[in-house]
Amino acid sequence: MTDHRPIGVFDSGVGGLTVLAALREVLPNESLLYLGDTARVPYGNKGADTIQRYARGAVRFLVERDVKAVVVACNTASAYALPGIADEWEIPIIGVIEPVANAAVASSRSGHIGVIGTRATVRSGAYVRAIERAGQTHIVPLQQPCPLFVPLAEEGWTQGPIVEAVASEYLSAFQGSAIDTLILGCTHYPLLKVTITQTLQRLMGRSVEVLDSATATAAYVQEALRRQKALRQTESNASVVYFVTDEPQRFADTGAPYLNEPLEHVEHIDLVT
Ligand code: DGL
Repeated sequence: MTDHRPIGVFDSGVGGLTVLAALREVLPNESLLYLGDTARVPYGNKGADTIQRYARGAVRFLVERDVKAVVVACNTASAYALPGIADEWEIPIIGVIEPVANAAVASSRSGHIGVIGTRATVRSGAYVRAIERAGQTHIVPLQQPCPLFVPLAEEGWTQGPIVEAVASEYLSAFQGSAIDTLILGCTHYPLLKVTITQTLQRLMGRSVEVLDSATATAAYVQEALRRQKALRQTESNASVVYFVTDEPQRFADTGAPYLNEPLEHVEHIDLVT
């Protein structure tokens, strides 16, 4: 059995490329359709209804292109729109919160877990619930919104004094806490991982395990497709096509560092929601 249909991946902007990169690593035979809703990024400071409406339209766009699964590679959309949207389609619709919450609970020795994300993700409480479902029922995770990280990542500002100053301001919320694991609860943040890890180490005076959703989510997708016998077995001609709701060239320029290669086949589309 082989299923040649592509996997759809969706984020508000370039952040979901961190998940796309992990998918390409774990599932090199799979073709991918990526949708970045770049005209409306950021989602993280919008209200629940707006985020749900945007996410619903984005998932529908990908499903209508005959994908065999959709990865909601955006924590904000995963927090507000799942499982609601997943129930509307027959193919697997997989979010990024549960995979990394499970990984964090498995990796934390003390059970003290920190979460950083957009304002909306933190406010939703989705990580608190996911971490509890993963078995960490006694210690409530410590959460900190970091709204300026998304525009910095979208601008390609990932290191240097300004990023360090912003990171210090946000991450000082964890100073003196017992966290041994920090979840990057936004798919844009892995681009700032070096700065985040070093700043946290400086503030805490010890190292903290920093986890992002990309690897854990890719493993989930692999398992979901394996269960459905929907993996593509052919070892050639896997393609990646990108759709964006704003200017393609800007997306290609900003996205290239996420994949360490130029982004080809970027098309502009309009989402009807
Ligand atoms: N990358 C997204 C996330 O994981 C969204 C960032 C945003 O649009 O605010 O939350």
